[in-house]
Amino acid sequence: MLFDKQLASALATDQISADDILNAFEVPKDNKLGDVCLPCFKFSKVLRKAPSQIANELATALDGVDFVEKYQVVGGYLNVYLNREAIAKTLISALGNENIGGSDEGNGKTICLDYSSVNIAKPFHIGHLSTTVIGGALYRIFKHLGYNVVGINHLGDWGTQFGKLIVATRKWSSLEEIAKNDEYFLNSLYVRYHQESENNPALDDEARAWFKRIEDGDSEANAYFDTFKDVTMRAVSKIYDRLKITFDSYNGESFYNDKMQPCLDEMESKGLLEISEGAKVVNLDEYGMPPCLLVKADGASLYATRDIAAAYYRKKTYDFSKCLYVVAYQQNLHFKQVFKVLELMDFAGKDDMEHIAFGMVSMEDGSMSTRQGRVVWLKEVLDKAVEKARAIIEEKNPNLEDKEKTAESVGVGAVVFSALWNNRIKDIVFSYDKVLNFDGETAPYVQYTYARSKSALRKGGDYDLNNVDFSAILDDEGYEVVKSVLTFGDSVKQAAKLREPCVVTRHIVDLAEKFNRFYIGHRIVVDDEAVKNARLMLTDVVGRTIKEGLALLGIDAPEVM
Ligand code: ARG
Repeated sequence: MLFDKQLASALATDQISADDILNAFEVPKDNKLGDVCLPCFKFSKVLRKAPSQIANELATALDGVDFVEKYQVVGGYLNVYLNREAIAKTLISALGNENIGGSDEGNGKTICLDYSSVNIAKPFHIGHLSTTVIGGALYRIFKHLGYNVVGINHLGDWGTQFGKLIVATRKWSSLEEIAKNDEYFLNSLYVRYHQESENNPALDDEARAWFKRIEDGDSEANAYFDTFKDVTMRAVSKIYDRLKITFDSYNGESFYNDKMQPCLDEMESKGLLEISEGAKVVNLDEYGMPPCLLVKADGASLYATRDIAAAYYRKKTYDFSKCLYVVAYQQNLHFKQVFKVLELMDFAGKDDMEHIAFGMVSMEDGSMSTRQGRVVWLKEVLDKAVEKARAIIEEKNPNLEDKEKTAESVGVGAVVFSALWNNRIKDIVFSYDKVLNFDGETAPYVQYTYARSKSALRKGGDYDLNNVDFSAILDDEGYEVVKSVLTFGDSVKQAAKLREPCVVTRHIVDLAEKFNRFYIGHRIVVDDEAVKNARLMLTDVVGRTIKEGLALLGIDAPEVM
């Protein structure tokens, strides 16, 4: 909210603190009702007066405040209209800000962010899109706010599937062939294994034996393991490059092989472990959850065991203030159990663990099922979106230089955006036409608006900030744009607080819409220098804000489209 802190301290009294006022402020639903609204109902208990009387009394403090244009008391509400010119003048400092929407609220506090965390030996499928791009966006948003963020890819690189793949490789392929081929080839062996093992259960015994050899550090078995991992990581890295995703650590499940025992010992010493049918579990009856399984009867550790070891490792290594897990809601129970066990262990970070859940992505033509092999590979989705973007560009702007690069930015951006548009928890149905609609709430729409701002700036040339007629951008349409630019930072903070990148996504779409309305209603490059300067300045700061917003989301902003 604009000038909210200044307003709050102007309005504060002996009985109502500036903080109380700040917390009570609202943005009026209808902008005809002003810029800031203070509902006074909650103060009436303390002050023993009618809300409207309180509003009237408080309001007198605003007489003579230079950034307040006027105010109105309506019922129990105090509606404040800010001085548009005072607001617009602050745009000039926004222009000089290299760190648009950023702040230092994080103050160097460390956040561990576990995201993407793909599974080795499987191609990247669309089920991992959301965790990857939501995680990537949160990573950048927290950094933008001055947090020290540790991006962790908790690779799924452990489990009996590796034994299965070794059996399949030895029967139907070879290590050399695997190393030469891509992740899809590897996957086809896995699929074949599942088909054949249905009629030949002995394969599973072989697979178990091979997996045991990996666990025991056998070099032949581990050569297979390493190759599977290399092939997958090579492919996955290409996707991360396209999505602009980076990590500070790739410590996955296998990394914790030698780090679980001390945790189990700790549970043992705290009397938490129970034996159930030969397995070691922590009973969670009391908390209305099934037991958390930690060691199987055959001695094998589990997913949860590794997560517990990982929590201890992260606390010790990074001393995080928060440890966040961007993982689908299907794992709600897993994280509840793990967090509960950590709490029972009195783990030092127990109050700072957070599961950032999100919904499912399915394709318009029906859902997908991993088991039946009807999986949608992310690479194919990206390629197809880029191909469609290329066709649209070909039609709209056949003379564009660098069509290939722009098509990549638009196609990939559209896919990324689609996973960042809604609140995380919503399931989404992916449609190429919808995400690539240049007139919709989409990446291409925002990118197009950015390119439009750049084109206006190229046409307008340099502008002089010493000769600006602010009134040229302060009619209702212009003022909405100004306010949207200046409140972008609030949305970045809000996105971080709620762990919801969509707050940023929605802000930039809203800004793009407002700017387009202004652009259509006003010529930017006009003869009057002071008017032109004002409009170019606004166009410039809008472009920069959109570009920053897109960058936070991991989306390119092409200069020309
Ligand atoms: N690899 C897991 C999956 O694909 C996600 C891992 C999430 N992170 C974690 N620390 N459990 O389902």
